[in-house]
Amino acid sequence: MVDKSALKAAITELRQLQKDFHKSLRTRLDRLEEELDGALSDEPVADTVGPSHDWTERSDHRDHLYQFVAYGDMRPIHAVLDVGCGMGHVAEQLTGYLVPPGRYEGFDVRANVIAKVQKRPIGTRYPHFRFRHANVYNKRYNPEGSVQANEYVFPYDDGTFDFVFAYSVFTHMFPSDIDHYLAEISRVLKPGRRCLLTYFLLNEELTRLIDAGIMRKTFRFHGEHYRYDNEEFPENALAIEESFVRQTYARHGLKILEPVRYGSWCGRAGAETRQDMIVAVKE
Ligand SMILES: C[S@@+](CC[C@H](N)C(=O)[O-])C[C@H]1O[C@@H](n2cnc3c(N)ncnc32)[C@H](O)[C@@H]1O
Repeated sequence: MVDKSALKAAITELRQLQKDFHKSLRTRLDRLEEELDGALSDEPVADTVGPSHDWTERSDHRDHLYQFVAYGDMRPIHAVLDVGCGMGHVAEQLTGYLVPPGRYEGFDVRANVIAKVQKRPIGTRYPHFRFRHANVYNKRYNPEGSVQANEYVFPYDDGTFDFVFAYSVFTHMFPSDIDHYLAEISRVLKPGRRCLLTYFLLNEELTRLIDAGIMRKTFRFHGEHYRYDNEEFPENALAIEESFVRQTYARHGLKILEPVRYGSWCGRAGAETRQDMIVAVKE
């Protein structure tokens, strides 16, 4: 004879266990995502950083703010766009630098991350800093996204920004999506203003490094104009052909300001940046 009440009690207990498990898994996942974003950004600079600092004397070339000012020609009253802003770790470096009418706009495909960053001090204490969610599909970051990246129209008018950057974002996107994002970046940039974007660039040197077997990632799978390591989630890390990138910039009226700064990510010695960095000016 089945003890119905014991069965019911067991089911209730298991349901509760399932709920608790999901909750703790969600919390753990959120923490790991934050940790990952933090690990992928450089250390935030001190709060005392301000527009009066002489940026030309800074020697820490890994500092985003230094790079944006020195290479991107960013100025305190500029309108700045951060594509794929994540938790706002790079934005944190700009709070002491950008002053109204200077302003910052960041968007990202992860709704939970944008919701969180809007509640953090960077989202509440600086009215000229704004973060928004873009419901763009990315298999790793936003599998429920309703718009394909190669169709997403940035929610800004033409010629809005003085400086656009995307740090560690195009390393998670496919060439056709990057092509479209470059067109959008060119559209929202003012003529004569710059963008600074990072990549894992696939060129002869990288191929040599891969073939020499010194890299942890081997980018063993090949797609059109890109290589990747994770068969199920290519978006985990994509290396894109430098020749394709150069042609795409030219097509969208973005003139690359040489030199391309090749990064240390693939074991290159003496690099001043982590990922490969391209600065370009809108013609
Ligand atoms: C490695 S994180 C870097 C975050 C931030 N840029 C930083 O350096 O701290 C990559 C970010 O790109 C975002 N992302 C991926 N695909 C995107 C897309 N199509 N448009 C905008 N953001 C995207 C992800 O959600 C994620 O926050």
